[in-house]
Amino acid sequence: MYNAFFGFAQNPFNMSPDPSFLYRSRQHEEALANLIYGVQSRKGFVVLTGEVGTGKTTMLECLRDFLHAQQIAFASLFNSRLTVEQFFEMLSYDLDLRCNKLSKTEVLLSLNNMLLERAAAGRTTVLIVDEAHNLEWDVLEEIRLLGNLENRRGKLLQIILAGQQELDTKLDKPDFRQLKQRIALRCTLRGFTQAEAIAYVNSRMARAGIPEQTIISADLLEVIHHRTQGIPRLINAVCDNLLLIAFAMESKTASRDMLDEVTADMKLDYPPETAFNPDNSFPENVFRRAELPYQAD
Ligand SMILES: Nc1ncnc2c1ncn2[C@@H]1O[C@H](COP(=O)(O)OP(=O)(O)OP(=O)(O)O)[C@@H](O)[C@H]1O
Ligand SMILES: [Mg+2]
Repeated sequence: MYNAFFGFAQNPFNMSPDPSFLYRSRQHEEALANLIYGVQSRKGFVVLTGEVGTGKTTMLECLRDFLHAQQIAFASLFNSRLTVEQFFEMLSYDLDLRCNKLSKTEVLLSLNNMLLERAAAGRTTVLIVDEAHNLEWDVLEEIRLLGNLENRRGKLLQIILAGQQELDTKLDKPDFRQLKQRIALRCTLRGFTQAEAIAYVNSRMARAGIPEQTIISADLLEVIHHRTQGIPRLINAVCDNLLLIAFAMESKTASRDMLDEVTADMKLDYPPETAFNPDNSFPENVFRRAELPYQAD
């Protein structure tokens, strides 16, 4: 709506996990490197966790681009509320297994053959499960068993589990200790630091067509970082609404009042801004000390 007004070629704060907007913060860079390394070195299980909206699905999209480019076959499950039967059916559709997709035995046989054939040709195969914190115990157990398939050169199926922090908690339970032991790499995404959040917003605006944006000042971006706790999805939502209000008011710059309105409407929960704590060198203390009765040494 506001794109033409500000001069954007496309919406800078789209909510979709679009890799073309990727901002390579250190933690995202590391997470992606871990995912790729895990696949390439046939590590077996890799787990990516993180708070809601920190970029897990975006990382998986980047990994999918990499797998496409490398012609590595993969199955990618984005709906994790599945029964065991549905899980095997989805898996066989994604990997295009030629068998009765409703028979777990047939799917397993066909999958095993496929994995062995691909491994013999020096190729690997990947299973990606997003929202893995929702997986039922019995489906996770089937996934663990798939992770056991191996030849002498390594695991036949590389498994990436991504999910919210409950996934970490789940994997720490005694029931899952066998799976936990098999996890070769584990990484976690957190909110951006202040500097990252500012660079993130600027990079999205640059990608959308304005390389040196002056719409949201650095000071305002600091407040946005505080109120969103650096969570990318919240930053997107706040900035999107902020640009919308600025546009509605025909202003080329966003103001603190506009931001207050946006965050109040969004009912954002954030800690109070840090209170000002003067240290000993602060003049007020110096004055107060001066009021103390004079004591000769
Ligand atoms: N490094 C990044 N570069 C660019 N955009 C990002 C980055 N990280 C997150 N985002 C953006 O933040 C939003 C939320 O990201 P994403 O959907 O990947 O989060 P998530 O961790 O999968 O969330 P959920 O826990 O709800 O599944 C998306 O719009 C995405 O484009
Ligand atoms: Mg996600």
